[in-house]
Amino acid sequence: MRPMAQQSEGAVAGAPWSPGELEAQLAQSLLAIGEAADLDTLGVLRSDVLGPRSRLAGWRKGLGTIAPEQRRTAGAALNAARDELEAALSQRAETLAERQRAAKLAADRLDLTEVRLSQEWSTGHLHLVTQVREELEDVFVGMGYEIAEGPEVESDWNNFTALNVPPDHPARSNQDSFYLDLGDRESFLLRTQTSPVQIRLLERGVLPLYAVAPGRVYRRDTADARHLPVFHQIEGIVIDRGVTFGDLAGTIATFTEAIFGQGTKSRLRPAHFPFTEPSAEFEITCSICGGTGCRTCGGVGWIELGGAGMVHPAVLEHAGIDPEEWSGFAFGFGIDRLAMMRHEIEDIRSFIENDARFLAQF
Ligand code: DAH
Repeated sequence: MRPMAQQSEGAVAGAPWSPGELEAQLAQSLLAIGEAADLDTLGVLRSDVLGPRSRLAGWRKGLGTIAPEQRRTAGAALNAARDELEAALSQRAETLAERQRAAKLAADRLDLTEVRLSQEWSTGHLHLVTQVREELEDVFVGMGYEIAEGPEVESDWNNFTALNVPPDHPARSNQDSFYLDLGDRESFLLRTQTSPVQIRLLERGVLPLYAVAPGRVYRRDTADARHLPVFHQIEGIVIDRGVTFGDLAGTIATFTEAIFGQGTKSRLRPAHFPFTEPSAEFEITCSICGGTGCRTCGGVGWIELGGAGMVHPAVLEHAGIDPEEWSGFAFGFGIDRLAMMRHEIEDIRSFIENDARFLAQF
């Protein structure tokens, strides 16, 4: 509602507008301003109603031709109309700016509830190989072992020579290595086994020693159902006074039962490893058929898990330990293979394919 005073502005004697014309123009402009949908439209409207080509501007120019005493009244009426339009324009601008801000905020809002409310929302979990590694760690910690770690980049000395595998030893060709361009030729490599951690632990010189060392190992193998160039092993080493082969057999029986369940039997078969003497391969009753014989175990009822033996005196001597005073055993096996046996996984490559349907099963 405009104040009464302005209702009569239309009728100014001698004004350049005919009676009612200013009033009508003002009412029409105010209506348009109130309906302007956005700031751009409002900007155009401003120049239409107040700009140099507006009717108001035309009338103001016409003031020059009328008598001075009428000019003042007519000019005041134009000024009042202009002020009223200005006020309406800035009020509308404020409203539209506020509306635009609110719309932008609404558009920019991130709906963080969307994922949580979805039916398919689920947390991830540790990879099966990591789960099995942690389980093994728990079993050995329960038996009083410490968890040790060694670097994946190893010296040839720790990975082979100190383990009684001198250069040119045929055992090196079973573990085709990734040598690194570091130091002398073929003096550093990506470790092919976790056994070098034995050397690191022995050189530390803290005895007696009960430790397991899980970790990644590397071999120049082409990936197939049973091989990957990067896989996982866990190494065990025990050095104490008066340790016997019977202690080794008992240790293997204890942890294989803990991992594969009670009733799982283990046995040791003669084998050869350069760093143990005597050496053995240890086998467990086939987890698929329970020992009666099936395709997985080739009908024999036993599956080979890893290698073991009494630590070779030469290995102790390399580390400066007196083999007359101390003795012990070592063992090592693949964590991926153990997980495959326990969960009847046929192809080791499934572990690295990152197929969520496979991983979610465990
Ligand atoms: N390092 C051997 C391999 O990778 C496994 C092994 C065998 C480890 C006998 C041992 C051991 O500690 O005593 O094939």
